[in-house]
Amino acid sequence: MNLKPSAMKWVAIDLAVVLLIIGAVLWINPWSSDEPAGGGGGGVAVEFDKAQAEKGKALAGSNTCTSCHSTTGGAGAGPTWKGLYGATGKRGGKVDEAYIKETLTTPPAVMAQYKGKFKDADIEQITEYIKSLAQ
Ligand code: HEC
Repeated sequence: MNLKPSAMKWVAIDLAVVLLIIGAVLWINPWSSDEPAGGGGGGVAVEFDKAQAEKGKALAGSNTCTSCHSTTGGAGAGPTWKGLYGATGKRGGKVDEAYIKETLTTPPAVMAQYKGKFKDADIEQITEYIKSLAQ
């Protein structure tokens, strides 16, 4: 090539623009989805009943559960409910319906006030709410 220095400069600028575009496309990355098959942050999508979850949310509020358990991943006296469902619980084993039921019927010392307090229907609603926070 026999380009003048000024022409070389434009070639360099063109190249830079092309690289910028490639970089931007890779950065936005339209080919990759944040949701893997099954949805959720690496976990499996958890199905829940929306109406039940709403009732569970109200129960969790009126029973002050959420004063110890954050629903956003934040710290608290108890483990956050964000992503709790399906994860490994404090007592070991996977947090599922049975695990939550056991927590409420045979509560840990800090939750002793809830012993015998909830009907199965209440526990199911709270469980649906915790499920809704799985992702
Ligand atoms: C005074 C604070 C406090 C309140 C109020 C409270 N919890 Fe807890 N909760 C805890 C602590 C601390 C743990 C962890 C206990 C342990 O180490 O096993 C826990 C554990 C749990 C677990 C099991 C988590 C795991 O990983 O093992 C569930 C589910 C749960 N609580 C639900 C509830 C519900 C539902 C309510 C309201 C009805 C409630 N909590 C109210 C402090 C609280």
